[in-house]
Amino acid sequence: MSIQQDNRFQAIISHAKEYGFVFPSSEIYDGLSAVYDYGPYGSELKKNIRDYWWRSMTQMHDNIVGIDAAIFMHPTTWKASGHVDNFSDPMIDNKDSKKRYRVDHLLEAKADQLRESGQANEADTLLAEMDRLLAAEDFTGLKQLMNDQKIVCSVSGTANWTDIRQFNLMFSTQLGSVAEDADTIYLRPETAQGIFVNFLNVQKTARMKIPFGIAQTGKAFRNEIVARQFIFRMREFEQMEMQFFVRPGTQMEWYNYWKDARLKWHTSLGIPAEKYRYHDHVKLAHYADAALDIEYEFPFGFKEVEGIHSRTDFDLKSHQEYSKKKQQYFDADVDPSTGKPYGNYIPYVVETSIGLDRMFLLVLSHAYEEETITKEDGTSDNRVVMRIPAKIAPNKLAILPLMKKDGLPEIAKQLLDECKPHFKCFYEEKDAIGKRYRRQDAIGTPFCVTIDHQTKEDGTVTIRHRDSMKQERVHLSEIKSMVLTALT
Ligand code: GAP
Repeated sequence: MSIQQDNRFQAIISHAKEYGFVFPSSEIYDGLSAVYDYGPYGSELKKNIRDYWWRSMTQMHDNIVGIDAAIFMHPTTWKASGHVDNFSDPMIDNKDSKKRYRVDHLLEAKADQLRESGQANEADTLLAEMDRLLAAEDFTGLKQLMNDQKIVCSVSGTANWTDIRQFNLMFSTQLGSVAEDADTIYLRPETAQGIFVNFLNVQKTARMKIPFGIAQTGKAFRNEIVARQFIFRMREFEQMEMQFFVRPGTQMEWYNYWKDARLKWHTSLGIPAEKYRYHDHVKLAHYADAALDIEYEFPFGFKEVEGIHSRTDFDLKSHQEYSKKKQQYFDADVDPSTGKPYGNYIPYVVETSIGLDRMFLLVLSHAYEEETITKEDGTSDNRVVMRIPAKIAPNKLAILPLMKKDGLPEIAKQLLDECKPHFKCFYEEKDAIGKRYRRQDAIGTPFCVTIDHQTKEDGTVTIRHRDSMKQERVHLSEIKSMVLTALT
């Protein structure tokens, strides 16, 4: 990360705290590493992103329905899904500092350094070699690569490393009050399994026909060894996942459909397409026959925000095996090659999986801007503006009576009463109007309306647009529909 990028990222983190988006968890006790709380504007923004995703899945697709499964699941779920045996990362410890690292993170950081020093080809070669060794699970080769690259621990400064070992990322806890009777259960590391185990419940009760999808949002937990970069990688986070059940043999068609559809969802928020790229996986997860990441250019470089995975019939087949309950679907459609119905099969699955917190960080990274404004009198001023897309902004409209007297608050409150059933409004009487505008810019409110003495005479108000700072005089009765238009 260049100093400029690092400064921008640090400025975003400070801004997020100062303006009530994100706080370190239990801060009065000095916080808890890689755990964060969302403040008044953060929780609104997070909810709006979640709702925007949920609507795009369950409202805009008539063949997708939602569920809300529990975080705790029967422990065999995680045996069947492969997480007990396979959900681990190669780690290495530095013997001097006793610090533990993910091997891929150390090598990626080295590649970033190479790139910053103008050695882009060397960086690409290093990453390609890392991918090859990870895919082959060649830990001796990976350690050799670390030695060749002279990678040292950032704390001790030495290359005194242990061998590379796998560590499982699931958190476990006990169900039941008496330790001896207790069963070990896991905090779910992905929401997807709640969808798989409910596949037939949903298919039957909602009378779904293949192809169809099941969407879910909710918390997931991973004991990330190196959690870093603010809310980018956390130990408790939220996922928005959709499993799309398809006829075997058609999965690549749907994989390509969702690859396209999901990028369109991102750009529909007005975030430029050039800030995104696809990254095809070389090392496929134990359940996938194709997979890619949608990456976004964060202040610290292009990183994964969403995964599209063709998961084959791995999960349903495995749950059928472990539970001894058939996970089949009867397809009455006629197969043109045989002239007979497709009949019974275990569907294949294409999954779209996006981290809500990561999407939140993406929105903050896109929105944050420090601007110098030249005023009419030739002097200049600075402002921080959060250009959050209006559709997901925490507040849509700030209603600001110019003064606390002369009946202006009464008119303002009438407007508030008219608008608040339709979208989130903010009301404020205190401070000079310029100061109030700046505060709304800093939390990303797309519109401010000022009620002044002229309003009493002709019913007009000043509406100010956040991004252009343009102000126009319109009638009070137009405000609600102006804001609603911007939200569609
Ligand atoms: N069900 C598939 C699955 O969980 P994943 O690639 O491991 O796939 C999907 O995770 C998404 O969840 C990622 O693209 C990322 O946005 C988010 N995510 C994963 N681990 C995370 C973490 N530790 N902190 C925040 N978000 C995370």
